[in-house]
Amino acid sequence: MNLSRTLFIVFLLFEGNFCQRVVSTSVIYDSKALVIDGKRRILQSGSVHYPRTTPEVWPEIFRKAKEGGLDVIETYVFWNYHEPVRGEYYFRGRFDLVRFVKEVKQAGLFVHLRIGPYACAEWNYGGFPIWLHFIPGIQFRTTNNIFKKEMELFLSKIVNLMKDENLFATQGGPIILAQVENEYGNVEWAYGIGGQLYIKWAAETAVGLNTTVPWVMCAQEDAPDPIINTCNGFYCDLFTPNSPSKPKMWTENYVGWFLAFGYAVPFRPVEDLAFAVARFFETGGTFQNYYMYFGGTNFGRTAGGPLIATSYDYDAPINEYGFVNQPKWGHLRDLHIAIRHCEEPLVNANATQIFLGKNLEAHVYHKSSKECAAFLANYGNFSDATVLFKGNSYFLPAWSVSILPDCKNVIFNTAKVVSQTNLDNDALTWNITMHESLLSSSPWSWYKEKVGIWGNNSFQASGLLEQINITKDTSDFLWYTTSINVNEKIKKNQTKEAGLLIGSLGHASLLFVNERLVGFGYGNHDDASFMLSVKVNLHSGSNRIDVLSMMVGLQVGLEGEFLGLENLTLANSSIWTKGSAMPNNQSLIWYKTVFLAPEGKAPVSLNLASMGKGQAWVNGQSIGRYWSSYLSPSTGCSESCDYRGTYDASKCLKKCGQPAQILYHVPRSWLQPGENLLVIHEEIGGDPLKISLLTQNGQVICGRVSEDDLPPTDTWEPSVGFVSTIPELRLACEPGWYIASIHFASFGTPEGKCGAFIPGSCHTNVLSIVQKICFGKQRCSISVSEAKLGDPCPDVMKKSLAVEALCRALE
Ligand SMILES: *[C@@H]1O[C@H](CO)[C@@H](O)[C@H](O)[C@H]1NC(C)=O
Ligand SMILES: *[C@@H]1O[C@H](CO)[C@@H](O)[C@H](O)[C@H]1NC(C)=O
Ligand SMILES: *[C@@H]1O[C@H](CO)[C@@H](O)[C@H](O)[C@H]1NC(C)=O
Ligand SMILES: *[C@@H]1O[C@H](CO)[C@@H](O)[C@H](O)[C@H]1NC(C)=O
Ligand SMILES: *[C@@H]1O[C@H](CO)[C@@H](O)[C@H](O)[C@H]1NC(C)=O
Ligand SMILES: *[C@@H]1O[C@H](CO)[C@@H](O)[C@H](O)[C@H]1NC(C)=O
Ligand SMILES: *[C@@H]1O[C@H](CO)[C@@H](O)[C@H](O)[C@H]1NC(C)=O
Ligand SMILES: *[C@@H]1O[C@H](CO)[C@@H](O)[C@H](O)[C@H]1NC(C)=O
Ligand SMILES: *[C@@H]1O[C@H](CO)[C@@H](O)[C@H](O)[C@H]1NC(C)=O
Ligand SMILES: *[C@@H]1O[C@H](CO)[C@@H](O)[C@H](O)[C@H]1NC(C)=O
Repeated sequence: MNLSRTLFIVFLLFEGNFCQRVVSTSVIYDSKALVIDGKRRILQSGSVHYPRTTPEVWPEIFRKAKEGGLDVIETYVFWNYHEPVRGEYYFRGRFDLVRFVKEVKQAGLFVHLRIGPYACAEWNYGGFPIWLHFIPGIQFRTTNNIFKKEMELFLSKIVNLMKDENLFATQGGPIILAQVENEYGNVEWAYGIGGQLYIKWAAETAVGLNTTVPWVMCAQEDAPDPIINTCNGFYCDLFTPNSPSKPKMWTENYVGWFLAFGYAVPFRPVEDLAFAVARFFETGGTFQNYYMYFGGTNFGRTAGGPLIATSYDYDAPINEYGFVNQPKWGHLRDLHIAIRHCEEPLVNANATQIFLGKNLEAHVYHKSSKECAAFLANYGNFSDATVLFKGNSYFLPAWSVSILPDCKNVIFNTAKVVSQTNLDNDALTWNITMHESLLSSSPWSWYKEKVGIWGNNSFQASGLLEQINITKDTSDFLWYTTSINVNEKIKKNQTKEAGLLIGSLGHASLLFVNERLVGFGYGNHDDASFMLSVKVNLHSGSNRIDVLSMMVGLQVGLEGEFLGLENLTLANSSIWTKGSAMPNNQSLIWYKTVFLAPEGKAPVSLNLASMGKGQAWVNGQSIGRYWSSYLSPSTGCSESCDYRGTYDASKCLKKCGQPAQILYHVPRSWLQPGENLLVIHEEIGGDPLKISLLTQNGQVICGRVSEDDLPPTDTWEPSVGFVSTIPELRLACEPGWYIASIHFASFGTPEGKCGAFIPGSCHTNVLSIVQKICFGKQRCSISVSEAKLGDPCPDVMKKSLAVEALCRALE
C-alpha cells in the first residue's frame, strides 16, 4: 500500500517536471535523410502560404494536412509585406508569421521556413520590397554590398524573431529546416562570377545565423556545404544532391499549376502526381513537398506579374475555399500511409535495383529478413504489364508504381484510385450546391472617375516611363496626357481620321481621345508587352489624348484610389450618386452596394462574370483583381486528360474559351452579421446588376470501388497484413456537413463517372442499403462484397459499387 502510494507520487512529480521541460528536438542530416532526434525520417511536406488565407482558417488547413498524412508545412516569408517601409515592420493579421508557425506546431506538424528573402511564388515583385529598388547603387541577388546588407538585415530579423519565440526545433519549436535564396541556380549564369560569389556569401551568412537546423537552397547545383541543394519540378526521381553526404530532397512538387488571366485552368491528375511521388521515394528520396498543398487566394494586389489571377487554387489537395479536393487529397493520403509503412527499410537500407522488363523495374530495400520494402514500377506511358517479382506475379498498369511494405503484398498502386471523388461546383450540380442571390435589388450607387490627370502631382516627360519608377507600386495605374493639334481646316462638325499606335511593355492600357474611350490593349502572362493600334477621329484644333497604363501584378493612380472610395469611411458619403439610372458598360467607374451576409459558415464568393476588369472590396478589404472579359483560347483543353506520360503545365487544361476566373473568394472572417459593404472599381465596362453572391451549401461526392480493389491502406498492419481483405467504399463530407441524400447506388457494372453514373448491364439497386448506412452521417463506409450487397449476376467476375451522394451543411 505504502509502496504504491510512493510510486504514485514519484510518477506525478516526474509528469509535472516533464511538462514544464522544453522538449528540444535535434535536427541534423546524413546521406540518407533528415535525422530528427537521432532518427532518420521520411517526411511528407506541403506548402501553405500564410497571407493567402485568413488566420481563422489556418488551424483547419493544418488539421486536414495532418489527417492527409503530412509531417511538415512549408512556407515562404514575404519580405515586402513585412517591411513595407524600410525599417518599419509589420507582422499582424494575415502576416502574423509567429502565430502561423505556432498554429502549425499546435497541429503536431513541423515547419520548413523558406526565408529567401527572394520568394518568386507568383507574388508581387517576388517578395522584394519596392523601396529596395530605389536604393542608389543597388543590384539585386548578386555580390552587391548594398543588397547584401539589406538581405542580411532581413534574414537575421526573421531568424531572431523565430528564436525569440523559441520556434526552432532545438528550442522546442516546430521549425526543422530553413531556406536561403530561391531557385537562384536557374539565373546564376546571368550574373557571372558575381553570382557565384553571392551564393557563397548567402550560404555563409545563413549558416552564420546559427539557426541550429539545416539550411537548404533549391534548384542550386553549386550549393556550398553544409547547405543541402534540393530539387524543384514535376518529377525528381532522377535528381541527386551535389554531395554524397546530403540527402535527396524535393522542395517543390507541383500539384497543378498557377492560373493567369486569359489562360485556361491547369490541373494535374492525381495518378500522375502519386506516380511522381512514389518514384521519388522508390529512388532514394526522403523529403518531398507539395507546391501547393493549399494554394488559397491572392488578395488585394499581392498577385505577381504579369497577369497572375486572383485565385491561387493550384489544383491543390485542399482547394481555395479550404475544402478537400477529392480524389487528390484522399489518394495522396493513402499513398503517404503506404510509404510510411516502408520508412524503416527506406532510411536504413540501400536499394537494389532489379530490371523486370522494358520500362519495368523494382527497387528493393532489404534491411533484414523482417524488414524489407519494395517498389515495382512501370514507367512506360502506354502498356500495362504483369511482372514476376520474387516468384509472384504482379499486375502493373502503365505509368504506375506498386508499393510492397513487406516485399510481398501490394498495399497501394498509384494508378488505382479508390478514394472519394468530389464534383466541381461549377459542373452539372451548380443549382443544388450553390445558393446564388443576385445583388440587383440591393441599393447601388456609383462614382464616375475623371478621365486623365486629375490631381496636382503631374509632371512632364517625353516618351513613356518605367511605371514602377513612377508609381512606386502604390497603385496599378499611371495616367499619361498629351494633345494633338490638327491644323488643317476641317468642316464644322466633321472630323479627320488618324491612326494612333501605342507600344507598351505591359500590362494593359486604356486609350481615350477627347475623354472618350477608343481602345484597350493588353498583353498576356508569357509576353506582357503589346501594341495598341486604333483609328480615331480628330477634330480641328487641340485633341486630348489620355492613356491609362495599368499593371496587373505592380499624376500616379486614380482619383478614386486617392479619395479612398473602397473605404468604409466613405460608405455613406454624398460623393456617391444614387438613382435608378445605373450606368453600365462604362469604363473607369466605381460602384457600391450593401448586401446581407449569408448565414452559416459555408464558403462565400462573388460571381463577377458580368464584369470586365477591375478590383473589388468587401468591407474595405480587397478580395483581389478580376478580369472576367479576358477569355482563354478556345482550344488546347482536355477535360479527361490521360495521366499516363510526362506531365507539363500545358498538358491538362480546362475551361477553354472562358474567363480564367469568375468566382472571387470572400473570406468568412471579413463578413459581419447584417449589412456588408461591396465596392467595385470597373476599368473597362461591366454590368454590376448581374453580380451575384454565392454560398456553397452542398457538395456532390462519389465513390466507386471494385470487388478486386485493395482494402484501404490504413487497415494494413505490419505484422498482420490487411485486417480485412474486403475493399471498402468510404464517403466523407466536410466537418459539420452530413450526407443529406443518395442520388445513385448500384452494385454490378455501373458506368459513367461522378455526376453522371448510370446502371450497367449487371445492376442491383443498393440505394436502401447505402441509405441505411450513410444517411445523416458525416462519414460512412460500405463493404464491397456480394455477401453485403447481393449478387445480381454470378457470371460477372469483377463487380463494382458506385455511389453518388449529396452533402449539406448542418443547419
Ligand atoms: C548556436 O546556438 C546554440 C543554441 O543557442 C548555442 O549553444 C551555440 O553556442 C551557438 N553557436 C554559435 C557558433 O554561436
Ligand atoms: C549504403 O551505401 C552507402 C554508400 O555506398 C554505404 O556507405 C552504406 O554503408 C550502405 N548502407 C548499407 C546499410 O548497406
Ligand atoms: C440552374 O438554374 C437556372 C435558373 O433556375 C437555370 O436557368 C439553369 O439552366 C440551371 N442550370 C442547370 C445546370 O440545371
Ligand atoms: C494638391 O496638393 C495639395 C498640397 O500641395 C494637397 O494637400 C492636395 O491633397 C493635393 N490634391 C490632390 C488632388 O492631389
Ligand atoms: C527613374 O526616375 C528617375 C527620376 O525620378 C530618373 O532619373 C531615372 O532615369 C528613372 N529610371 C528609369 C529606368 O526610368
Ligand atoms: C454640330 O453638332 C452639334 C452637337 O453635336 C449640333 O448641336 C449642331 O447642330 C451641329 N451643327 C451642324 C452644322 O451640323
Ligand atoms: C481608409 O480609412 C482608414 C481609416 O479611416 C484610413 O486610415 C485610410 O487612410 C483610408 N484609406 C484611404 C485610401 O483613404
Ligand atoms: C451608413 O448609414 C447607414 C444608415 O444610416 C448605417 O446603418 C450604416 O452603418 C452606415 N455605414 C457606415 C459604413 O458607416
Ligand atoms: C459596351 O460598349 C462598347 C463600346 O464602348 C460596345 O462596343 C459594346 O458592345 C458594349 N457592350 C455591351 C455588353 O453593351
Ligand atoms: C511516351 O513514351 C514514348 C516512348 O518512350 C515517348 O517518346 C513519349 O514522349 C512518351 N509520351 C509522353 C506523353 O510522355
